[in-house]
Amino acid sequence: MGGVALTEIAARFGTPLIVVDESHLEDRLARFRAAFGVDAGLTYAGKAFLCGALVRLLAREGWLVDVVSGGELELVRRAGFPMRDVILHGNAKSAAELKRAIEYGVGRIVIDHPDEVDDLRKAATVAGSDHRPDLLLRLNADLTPETHEKVRTVGPGTHFGMAPPVAASVARRIAGAGEWRLVGAHIHAGSQIRDPALFSRIAEEAVGFVAPLRLCFPETVDLDLGGGLAAPYRAGEDVPTLREYAKALEVGLRRSDAEARLGSYRLIVEPGRSVIANAGLTLYTIHARKRLDGAAEALAVDGGLSDNPRPSLYGASYEVLNASRPRGEAGRTFRVVGRHCESGDVIAPAAMLPGDSAVGDVLAIPGTGAYVFAMSSRYNGVGRPAVVFVRDGVARKVVRRETDDDLLACDLALGGPEPARGARPEPVSAAATRPSRAR
Ligand code: LLP
Repeated sequence: MGGVALTEIAARFGTPLIVVDESHLEDRLARFRAAFGVDAGLTYAGKAFLCGALVRLLAREGWLVDVVSGGELELVRRAGFPMRDVILHGNAKSAAELKRAIEYGVGRIVIDHPDEVDDLRKAATVAGSDHRPDLLLRLNADLTPETHEKVRTVGPGTHFGMAPPVAASVARRIAGAGEWRLVGAHIHAGSQIRDPALFSRIAEEAVGFVAPLRLCFPETVDLDLGGGLAAPYRAGEDVPTLREYAKALEVGLRRSDAEARLGSYRLIVEPGRSVIANAGLTLYTIHARKRLDGAAEALAVDGGLSDNPRPSLYGASYEVLNASRPRGEAGRTFRVVGRHCESGDVIAPAAMLPGDSAVGDVLAIPGTGAYVFAMSSRYNGVGRPAVVFVRDGVARKVVRRETDDDLLACDLALGGPEPARGARPEPVSAAATRPSRAR
């Protein structure tokens, strides 16, 4: 990967390890730009995977970033990312997060519910700042995306955004008061969406909402149509290409007559998974090989549920490769299990691997760039893995492994100090070497 042998990386940095191919990632960002054009607001959804090195790469490529918490906001700020290119999301933002977003000069905030405008007003007063982020309204559109119910964010049973009539009254209220600039509408329908027709419908819903309220928005209105494009997890899995994705949104815009009804508008998309999932993989070391009931055999590795909860949460299915025996015949089915104390900690229930797979071998799980490191926990006292970027034969560690001291640092009975209140370090360096193309 990136010109480096995976077994070498494993030996050098230890496992479990997340490895990200920087060239693959850059290529993906460039393909998004090619599919959507220079005017689109390409916004990376930080929740999929975030670290300082990635944020700097995004800044160089002229992307925006969406964050959903004070923690993510702090990370992008300390990485030196331009705050005007940050979009703050969240259905339960705290007063402190809103205040910090205003103090930092965040460019856009997506309003999730009607009371949030008052929360923002209060936060601005407390912050004592004149900065007023541009606002978008999150719509809970009447759509039912075909995807796992846990990652569906519109339609029956979901709790994000506002029904269009509610959002319309909020739009009139904001525009009438004139205190905040309402710049657009936002819909994120869900994640791992495979049907391009759904993206057309999202575009239609957004245009249908904005058109009758056109005067509430500035001359160029933002249509932020969220993320959600599926990534392939297994060999041969078919998902829409970026061009098909862009085309599907365009079809919806055309079908709803966006140009005639809205005049000037700007498309924003917020992909996470489809940017990073296939740029990353996880490396584990086999710690035990063991015969189970009947003919089944298990390979137990040094990670699992704590670094990747997705199989357990969503029944996610991954390929497994034995990096130590790349030419070995995949002749035997193994249950690849994690190290955690529950039967649900299964990384792959039936992986075809070389029959001589043995303790000490390095297993690679491709497609783990998105929602893996980001969702990792410290369950069972296992620290979170390190992250390594590879490119042109060079591997560099960008996030170090969590140590036992990190794990115990918040435990006051064990002598962990309370941090100084309100202390916030400055950005590490000005990383925004190139100004953003889209803002
Ligand atoms: N915008 C908003 C407002 C979102 O909530 C999300 C994802 C995205 C953009 C990016 O969506 P993407 O392009 O990555 O599908 N943990 C789950 C996925 C949760 C997605 C949450 N929201 C998983 O591992 O499958």
